[in-house]
Amino acid sequence: MTEHGWIPVALSASIEAGTSAGAVIDGAEVVVWRDNKNAAHVWEDRCPHRGMRMSFGFVRGDHIACLYHGWAYDTAGQCQYIPAHPDLEVPKTIKIPTYSTVEKNGIIWTALAEGADIAGVPDVAADATPVRSLYVDCTPATAFAALKTTSLPQPSGPAIPAALDAVLHNCWRLTAGNTEVLIACQSIGNNRTGLHIVLLGATAHTAALRAPLARWAEQLRHALENSATPAMAEVA
Ligand code: FES
Repeated sequence: MTEHGWIPVALSASIEAGTSAGAVIDGAEVVVWRDNKNAAHVWEDRCPHRGMRMSFGFVRGDHIACLYHGWAYDTAGQCQYIPAHPDLEVPKTIKIPTYSTVEKNGIIWTALAEGADIAGVPDVAADATPVRSLYVDCTPATAFAALKTTSLPQPSGPAIPAALDAVLHNCWRLTAGNTEVLIACQSIGNNRTGLHIVLLGATAHTAALRAPLARWAEQLRHALENSATPAMAEVA
């Protein structure tokens, strides 16, 4: 694993309580799941039994069970129950590697390194409205270059060129007129990048901006995947 620091893996709204999904960080597969107390978890996406992906598993309360033979793991990653041996006291060695996880700004972040600093992801706004996660065939550097020249839609009137500032090395805020968005960048590897986009703040314009921002995101993906140079189309 090559990525250090906090890495965005999903929009908070995309992982509902009792569900799981797979994600990739620089080629490393992780499962992102949410328990019935609404806590999000990010683990290695591999069952210690026969290697099945835990992202194919099913969440029951505060456990996630493997699809293949039903081994069930608690929120610490510890196997607690093996259906084929219901009376067995499960050895403590049967455990899935877990990663530090935090939710901020409407995004689920994880840190693959031991002892991650939770304060490392700043709160940039009291409210964040999910726009979408965009998965693009480009590098994070190409995405960053494109965002430096983009324009953001407004509640009315034409798009306005956006100012960009870095919140983290892999997270950028774009501000233009009445529109402020946060874009958290997930390096997937193999020329693939995830961009998790939220609209910041809660204003009278929030609802009106969601659809134009979704169109802006789609145009961003088109520009990134179809241009050798990261120039961005203006969005009206
Ligand atoms: S592979 Fe997961 S329980 Fe067998």
